[in-house]
Amino acid sequence: MLNVTPEKLDAAVKRAEEIIKGLTLAEKSGQLSQFGTSIYNDEVHYFEDHYEKGTIGSYLTVGGAEVTNRLQKECKEKFPTHIPILFADDVIHGYKTIFPTPLAQSASWEPEAAKKGAEVAAKEASSAGIRWTFSPMVDIARDPRWGRIVEGYGEDTYLCSKFSEAVVKGYQGEEIGEKDKVLACMKHFIGYGACVGGRDYDAVDMSLNTLYDVYLPPFKAGIDAGAATVMSAFHTFNGVPCTGNKFLLKDLLRGMLKFDGFVISDAGSVWEMKTHGFVENLYDSSKEALKAGLSILMAGDQFNDHIPELIKNGDITEEQIDKALLPVITLKILLGVFEDPFVDPKGEECFFCDEHRAASREMAVKCPVMLENKGSLPLDISKKYALIGPLVDDKENVLGPWALKKEIETTVTIKEGFKNAGINFSYAKGSDFLENNEQDIADAVECAKNCDTVILVLGEKEEMSGEAKSRVHLRIPDAQIELFNKVAEVGKPIILLISAGRPIIVEEFKDRCDSIVYIWQLGTETGNALADLLLGKHDMSGRLTASVPYHEGQLPVYYNKNHTGRPALGKVWYETGYKDMTTDAAYTFGYGLSYTEFEYSDLTLSATEMKKDGSIEVCCKIKNVGKRGGYTVAQLYIRDLVASCVRPIKELKGFEKLYLEAGQERVVKFTLNADDLAFHNQKLERVVEPGKFNLWVAKDSADNTLKAEFSVVE
Ligand code: GLC
Repeated sequence: MLNVTPEKLDAAVKRAEEIIKGLTLAEKSGQLSQFGTSIYNDEVHYFEDHYEKGTIGSYLTVGGAEVTNRLQKECKEKFPTHIPILFADDVIHGYKTIFPTPLAQSASWEPEAAKKGAEVAAKEASSAGIRWTFSPMVDIARDPRWGRIVEGYGEDTYLCSKFSEAVVKGYQGEEIGEKDKVLACMKHFIGYGACVGGRDYDAVDMSLNTLYDVYLPPFKAGIDAGAATVMSAFHTFNGVPCTGNKFLLKDLLRGMLKFDGFVISDAGSVWEMKTHGFVENLYDSSKEALKAGLSILMAGDQFNDHIPELIKNGDITEEQIDKALLPVITLKILLGVFEDPFVDPKGEECFFCDEHRAASREMAVKCPVMLENKGSLPLDISKKYALIGPLVDDKENVLGPWALKKEIETTVTIKEGFKNAGINFSYAKGSDFLENNEQDIADAVECAKNCDTVILVLGEKEEMSGEAKSRVHLRIPDAQIELFNKVAEVGKPIILLISAGRPIIVEEFKDRCDSIVYIWQLGTETGNALADLLLGKHDMSGRLTASVPYHEGQLPVYYNKNHTGRPALGKVWYETGYKDMTTDAAYTFGYGLSYTEFEYSDLTLSATEMKKDGSIEVCCKIKNVGKRGGYTVAQLYIRDLVASCVRPIKELKGFEKLYLEAGQERVVKFTLNADDLAFHNQKLERVVEPGKFNLWVAKDSADNTLKAEFSVVE
């Protein structure tokens, strides 16, 4: 439900109803139409001709105090009923000050830090006249062939739901309409990450049980946190395009989730219903979208073209249009844009301010995941390092995809960060990501020879993950592998830093490196944050939220899989899995190393039975048994051993990230409610079934050390 008091909402709805009564049909369809910009004769055009007709309601990707104020002014002067424009943009992980990508942020296991990032993004975006962001993306992703895995919070429903709630609150604040806040948009409704073969935009088919238990909860969490808008996805869901899918947009979104904001299509997803083969023409696609409950059509004039005809033909009633329009006008009222559609241009002075940079740096040190460390980390300030790779002196790719309003000269490169931190290093580029030349390689080899330890920074260009970037080969590009091999011949210890949007396969480096750290794409403060981390000023505290496979052929790989009737135990011929590879991940969900060691012990339950409306307190002692302070992420997993629909071998139901000094110990406590064990049965009823459960408090999803059992009773 919208995060606004019932009184404010009621008043806004009443005022919106009055405004709608005074609109012409053209103005109504205009409020349901969102435009981008068009470029011709080297000039940017904003469809200004729509103002006199009032047939424009919002823009996407148009931002900046100067241009938004100018367009609002024109709208106020020319638009017959003066309904202010709503400016939206893809502020996915920062507007100007760029934060780590959402997948990187999820590896922090700190939703509150992501909330802070959303607050900074909202402040910067709203200073530029943007009052609505197409974020958070909460698509569960189990297949890293799908490039958009970078935009979400990983493979687990529970963790993604926590980030969904936190980020919505960061964007919208405690109540819609607060200063420096923007409307959130839950996307992409729904199931986008399950596209067949990891192929972007391809079909999604799944049981409603899977939809309700895996993909829906993160949307529910954001909507319960007050999310104002939802974006319908491109793909077909069980054969029906999401954008014209009444079951999804009405029964599920409005009925089950009680969503009371409005739905916007994805770019082109209305007319693509024709391409899907769901309708014969654009007229029918407009009709199906409006009948399904869509409000705003992203990017284009289609509604302006077809709504008058749809009503004349009786295919859509004006009441249906008014119903689609009501939440749009209501939210413009709640945002306050009627009273004050303009922004103070001085507000843009907050871009890249010290406070925002500090917030980005603070988040960035939490995200990297140390996969291996035989002792080369933390760095030894007395040593000389060879800092090699195409990402070392790079200002753009370390920002990651969807940094649309980036100003790359503001990026602190890895090279600059190391210099700022006083690390003793020589630098060599070594490769141009996808191609090499002999001189670059030779320089890199020479650099390695004259240093104690090599730090190789390899990985993806930002354009290699994100939308329409599905790939079959999930490995470091060949040119960079050639660089690795040549440098490895020198024989010095290698610290490998992987910078990528998606999980990529690192198996071939595992035994050839002293340390491997997944550094993702850390944003504007990449260099400073990485130096802090590698020097040990901040412990390595990131934990994987998307499994890293051994091979693409295993995909999809995720921790919360089913047991099957013939589990892959490697004992008998006739069992599930592959004859030529394990079904396990190379690095599993929840995995990551710290600079210190922790001992988990004394797992206790307050009871071994609970009623279907009861709860159990779970305690576990955790001790830092290493030589320095550090973080561990205690993870609570359960398994429902017998159920009317079989349940996964493990499900995350709680986590706590804690810092302990060397030798310090603490008891972490989780409250496990029976309701946390609910799932949807064969009748699609949400139930808690009596029966036996296993429970673990663990360091990652493959850690079975501390196990207990309990039962739910009638
Ligand atoms: C894109 C994406 C969506 C984005 C929208 C506007 O195609 O699917 O996530 O918000 O269009 O850029």
